Amino acid sequence: MSNSAESATAAGGSGETGTVPCGPRHVAIIMDGNGRWAQARGRPRLFGHHAGARRVREVVEACPDLGVKYLTIFAFSTENWKRTQVEVAGLMSLFRRYISKEMQALAARNVRVRFIGDRDRLDAKLTALMDQLEQTTQGNDGTHLTIALNYGGRDEVARATRRLAQDVADGTLKPEDVDEETLPKYLDTHVLPDPDLVIRTSGEARISNFLLWQSAYSEYEFIDTLWPDFTEDELARLCRNFGRRDRRFGAVKT
Ligand code: IPE
Ligand code: IPE
Ligand code: MG
Repeated sequence: MSNSAESATAAGGSGETGTVPCGPRHVAIIMDGNGRWAQARGRPRLFGHHAGARRVREVVEACPDLGVKYLTIFAFSTENWKRTQVEVAGLMSLFRRYISKEMQALAARNVRVRFIGDRDRLDAKLTALMDQLEQTTQGNDGTHLTIALNYGGRDEVARATRRLAQDVADGTLKPEDVDEETLPKYLDTHVLPDPDLVIRTSGEARISNFLLWQSAYSEYEFIDTLWPDFTEDELARLCRNFGRRDRRFGAVKT
């Protein structure tokens, strides 16, 4: 299927996706480079994380005009616990502050927020705020913002498999019914479409355990910009690039 046909379907058949024809409907971003951005300024890593958090608002606000209905952002990985206690605690405190501060603005902008990842290791104050933000925005139908927090693709597949195995053990699922349609229903992302475009900032060309199942056919953009320098204009440029790509999904054009 050509990219234009795919995107027209994704946009509900109109072929129009905001100001970017045939742009991505679901963009996922690995927001990387905060530490190096701070280091280049002789500042502590947390200074970079705060600058990075401020970038999120502009990117969320740019989505409707670009025809991006789903935005998924990688905020903290299951591997990021390996960082110093100071950095991890600073990030957790930043997440709490970010949620409290942005709650009203996100609600007013018709953004629907969801979190993916394992909440079990997060502290109760943070998970309460996450629940509150999800509940406050659950009636919204504008941009669907998904925040990956204590998220790892392998961890997600393992947790999904555990629940699936339990259903088999309980007799509510037959082993022969487990297929490519069934398994994703157990993933954290079960209500979301797969990402069309995955962007990673900071020059690293790896996926670092992000959306492993879901990105099987995503287009990738690895860009040198450090996350705190990422702008709406750059997002628009990447969405336009996406529109020029030929997505074949394994088929051959006839
Ligand atoms: C991304 O920036 C944010 C998180 C992983 C929490 P980094 O903190 O990884 O920044 P660099 O890659 O060290 O520059
Ligand atoms: C990926 O970035 C995780 C997030 C952006 C939250 P990392 O900086 O943790 O990834 P690696 O260590 O460079 O692979
Ligand atoms: Mg990094």
